[in-house]
Amino acid sequence: MSIQIPRGTQDILPGEVEKWQFIEKKARELCERFQYKEIRTPIFEHTELFTRGVGETTDVVQKEMYTFTDRGDRSLTLRPEGTAAAVRSFVEHKMYGDPNQPVKLYYMGPMFRYERPQAGRFRQFVQFGVEALGSQDPAIDAEVIALAMSIYNSLGLKKLKLIINSLGDKESRLAHRSALIQHFEPRIGEFCQDCQNRLEKNPMRILDCKQDREHDLMKSAPSIIEYLNDESKGYFEKVQQYLTALAIPFTVDPNLVRGLDYYNHTAFEIMSDAEGFGAITTLCGGGRYNGLTQEIGGPETPGIGFAFSIERFIAALKAEAVELPVNKGIDCYLVSLGEEAKDYTVGLLQRLRLAGFSAERDYLDRKIKAQMKAADRLNAKYVAILGENELKENRILVKRMETGDQWEMNLENFIEKFLELQQ
Ligand code: HAM
Repeated sequence: MSIQIPRGTQDILPGEVEKWQFIEKKARELCERFQYKEIRTPIFEHTELFTRGVGETTDVVQKEMYTFTDRGDRSLTLRPEGTAAAVRSFVEHKMYGDPNQPVKLYYMGPMFRYERPQAGRFRQFVQFGVEALGSQDPAIDAEVIALAMSIYNSLGLKKLKLIINSLGDKESRLAHRSALIQHFEPRIGEFCQDCQNRLEKNPMRILDCKQDREHDLMKSAPSIIEYLNDESKGYFEKVQQYLTALAIPFTVDPNLVRGLDYYNHTAFEIMSDAEGFGAITTLCGGGRYNGLTQEIGGPETPGIGFAFSIERFIAALKAEAVELPVNKGIDCYLVSLGEEAKDYTVGLLQRLRLAGFSAERDYLDRKIKAQMKAADRLNAKYVAILGENELKENRILVKRMETGDQWEMNLENFIEKFLELQQ
């Protein structure tokens, strides 16, 4: 039996991978403009980083981590997300001492979650994320959201919905927590085991339960917005004011609770509004995590960021029928006839490539007609034809495929002449 790819993973083949590269390139360019610098961290970390960072009561930590013991008896985990590692690195390399503050980072790479695979949900997926550490200015919250929106917009996505919420500061959350316990406790027996366990540990997570979503106590549950203290309220208002100034439309959704524990104040998600997108519409999630640096052993440092997966990005492009300008084809295909001409194209091809052109030749000993077809399949802009006679007479025939225009060029200065053709 042949070996197949593991469940929840996918191969990105040539033809498709160009879209990935295009998105990655655009996202990098925008990060550069917004002054976020790339950071690369390991694919596995000490398990404790995620239990402490992401939170013990989260689905990610309880059910979804790929955890293993290495030969040195250490518990390691394939990273399920990028924030905890970015913050660990920030602390480990004392980036809080860098005179350039806030520290603005971005990352891209595979993440791993043992989830039930379905459309838009994979066990290995690629996240692009940013983290801004060291500033508590609501303008940086707006900047982070603006960056995410700019990446989506620059790639042609329009049917987007930004929802935001505030999870408040510690004081607001404590007040909300007591209200939630009071609300759910008398009837907690009607809820799933997970929710029962969450009641004392992290009652806010009950609001995010998929199983008990329809329970009547869910709809009447106290909302965090009612429990925000003045400072948290003021902060949230400022974020909204900046978003408005940036002309970024948003909806406040007091029920937005994120799936990871480290959030406070601003939380946001960008959803696809495109018809037929499928059940999972969240494209991007993020928020503020002011306590996380301390949790990981560093000095108190505020932080905010987001992440999106390229998989869902591509699904959104498909749902909106956006075609990325990829698969442009090649500059030149060398067609040759006869043994000597064939030999000559080996060097000619290299010269073309070194001059900056994407170029190809035949490697299957095909007849002229089949070589022309191959050039067509590769979407060649030009075909350069070298037959025995041409070679003898030191010339080459160049044809522009789109128009059928032809030129005879001197073989010796073919590269210069070919360069001139492009002007
Ligand atoms: P998250 O909401 O768990 O947040 O994931 C962020 C994004 O990753 C999702 O919106 C989705 O695009 C993608 N994603 C998550 N799980 C899957 C999956 N199984 N298959 C495909 N895509 C997936 C975080 O990970 C936070 N670290 C984001 C953040 C950064 N918050 C602050 N800074």
